[in-house]
Amino acid sequence: MRIETERLIIRNFEMRDRDDLGEYMLQRVDKVFEGYPDFNEDKIEDEIKYRCGSEEFFAVELKDEHKVIGNIYLGIRDFNSKELGYVLNENYHLKGYGSEAAKAVVQWAFSQGVHRVFAECTPLNIYSWKTMEKIGLKREAELRQNVSFHKDEAGNPIYWDTYVYGALSTDTM
Ligand SMILES: CC(C)(COP(=O)(O)OP(=O)(O)OC[C@H]1O[C@@H](n2cnc3c(N)ncnc32)[C@H](O)[C@@H]1OP(=O)(O)O)[C@@H](O)C(=O)NCCC(=O)NCCS
Repeated sequence: MRIETERLIIRNFEMRDRDDLGEYMLQRVDKVFEGYPDFNEDKIEDEIKYRCGSEEFFAVELKDEHKVIGNIYLGIRDFNSKELGYVLNENYHLKGYGSEAAKAVVQWAFSQGVHRVFAECTPLNIYSWKTMEKIGLKREAELRQNVSFHKDEAGNPIYWDTYVYGALSTDTM
């Protein structure tokens, strides 16, 4: 796939994106939200190969710099649905690129016949759910303490709530 927006090209990953992918994934090793604690330099090669063959990960390329600054995830789910996710290189946050890319991909998915797009995040990840709202997804649910990705100092699971956001192809966005 290939989508062009004002400032971005959203497309399948290519092997030449290896260093850009490594750059933004290595930034997230210690991050609380969307962290990749097991990721390291040695895993970049396998990750870029996997993404080049994936139908769910799309590279977000900044036209001006010909640089991949992140990815949109569009996971294949039951009942003609897709689960949306996004990660950007932290040097490119808060410039509107996340919402520009996500909106274009959601519109593209609907143009391909997808019925529903949904996304989930913790209420603590304000940028993430603000991005969902900015592109027109509606908050459908708040699940109570349904996930745990971190432990406290005593080793007990820290549970987070989850916001579920969604849009139907028939919605006006
Ligand atoms: C989520 C993410 C992709 C957003 O990308 P971004 O390009 O920084 O987002 P945008 O610039 O398009 O901003 C989207 C909205 O976030 C909100 N936002 C931006 N800056 C903000 C700030 N300083 N305070 C609060 N909200 C803010 C705004 O509502 C903004 O919309 P607006 O421009 O109308 O104000 C990016 O923060 C990211 O990669 N985060 C780490 C990975 C992650 O957490 N992914 C989601 C996992 S569920």
